[in-house]
Amino acid sequence: MTTRIYVPRETTASSLGVDLVVEALVAEAARRNLDIAIVRNGSRGACFLEPLIEVDTPDGRVGYGPVTVDDIPGLFEANFLQGGKHALGLGNVAELPWFKNQERLTFARCGLIESTNVEEYKSLGGFVGLQNALRLSAAEIVQEVITSGLRGRGGAAFPTGIKWKTVLQTNASQKYIVCNADEGDSGTFSDRLIMEGDPLSLIEGMIIAGIAVGADKGVIYLRSEYPLTHTILLETIANARKAGYLGTNLLQSGKNFDIEIRIGAGAYICGEETSLLESLEGKRGEVRPKPPLPAHEGLFGKPTVVNNVISLATIPIILEKGGKHYANFGRGRSLGTMPFQLGGNIKYGGLVEKAFGLTLRQLIEDFGGGTATGKPVRAVQVGGPLGAYFPASLLDTPLDIEDFAKAGGMVGHGGVVVFDTSVNMAKMARFAMEFCSVESCGKCTPCRIGSVRGMETIDRIVQAKTQPEREKQLVVLKDLCETMESASLCAMGGLTPLPVMSAVQHFKGDFQ
Ligand SMILES: Cc1cc2nc3c(=O)[nH]c(=O)nc-3n(C[C@H](O)[C@H](O)[C@H](O)COP(=O)(O)O)c2cc1C
Ligand code: SF4
Repeated sequence: MTTRIYVPRETTASSLGVDLVVEALVAEAARRNLDIAIVRNGSRGACFLEPLIEVDTPDGRVGYGPVTVDDIPGLFEANFLQGGKHALGLGNVAELPWFKNQERLTFARCGLIESTNVEEYKSLGGFVGLQNALRLSAAEIVQEVITSGLRGRGGAAFPTGIKWKTVLQTNASQKYIVCNADEGDSGTFSDRLIMEGDPLSLIEGMIIAGIAVGADKGVIYLRSEYPLTHTILLETIANARKAGYLGTNLLQSGKNFDIEIRIGAGAYICGEETSLLESLEGKRGEVRPKPPLPAHEGLFGKPTVVNNVISLATIPIILEKGGKHYANFGRGRSLGTMPFQLGGNIKYGGLVEKAFGLTLRQLIEDFGGGTATGKPVRAVQVGGPLGAYFPASLLDTPLDIEDFAKAGGMVGHGGVVVFDTSVNMAKMARFAMEFCSVESCGKCTPCRIGSVRGMETIDRIVQAKTQPEREKQLVVLKDLCETMESASLCAMGGLTPLPVMSAVQHFKGDFQ
């Protein structure tokens, strides 16, 4: 009998040598005359276990990890094909508390199936949302998304259904769906994980978006740093087209929709939606003033939905189970689930999808297991490089868009970067200004010049010989941050003061 072994085809596992592990598995099985079939699934999101390999047994999928080439002979000796005991054995992976305590909606299939395979996708509920959408009017689809309470997962948390309604209500011969897969925020990888592990959910979400607003063309703007993701997406799009889900008259519905991929050139600002559109049009990635909104005048001047990967990949489950079902998760105005990404100095790094409302402490301690070094947590940056630094005293803040804003931070794209007591927060504040100066598109003065003056001012604060001189420069920094916040054209310059001033507020001693 053939035994199925699941081995991730995913960037984290790849960087840890998973392809060599596959070669070793195949060679060892051949040497022992054993019949195995390797299934290249996506990652389940437990980066700390990668490469995580799983074997189909009568007791479920039994996991072993992290596996290296040297472990392969020992695994066969331990009879791992029947789920035998081994030092790397994890038992039934789905039963591990790290997975069992998550609430996976968007990532429900991620890591379970061969990622590019349409039939496997369908076997776990794939394309049911699209079938349901095809029975609804455009306005009814949009209403379902509004009912779900889904807010954009790219950072700004704008209600997805309202954005779609705006595009639906515009009159135009051509409309576009643009998927923002630039994923530039530090410590974030949820877009990549879903594109590598369950790319058909993104494709299905884009098709539904197209049908809802009357767009027949979709573009995925993918960051250049994700070459494996690109390969997987290309294969998946080709498979979806072959199966009749993309192209003209898809599923004999009379609707047309197709997707192409464009690769970015490594600029953080090209994740900002209007710079992204400029870049797609072949121009320099510079922010456009708003209005007009992309929903009115987007790609090539046409009405465009720009949505993040996770926002779009969440659409299938909303159309499958209904907007109300999705809205049962979360609380207040932060409805549904969020794929949080635990990184930095953390013991168990990876992706944790939970309903909004758990605390930062629960995420870091219960799922993350504290710092990798074992030292106490000193600071946490949530929401990418423009997010605030929280001290340990704010760890009980609920991960909820409004609660986080009230505490002076932002949930953003859900990246959580942990620092232990060895961090110097003046250096982190300076880095925030430096990052802004390097990545600024240069269009407006507060950001382009302000970020450089910000670095210089922080240097003067740290090097000040006397306390009055230091206090004087702190006032300059505060003034500068207020100007950047209120006068920048986009959130790049507008939010850089958040990490800077939160570092000053909570860790002033580091600026001595
Ligand atoms: C400097 C900057 C960088 C951004 N980078 C990204 C990004 O990498 N990915 C993303 O989805 N949104 C990014 N955004 C947010 C987008 O401008 C936009 O709000 C988002 O793509 C809309 O999709 P959503 O409503 O589904 O979140 C960025 C915004 C700014 C100001
Ligand atoms: S804030 Fe910075 S990135 Fe944004 S438009 Fe101004 S210069 Fe460009």
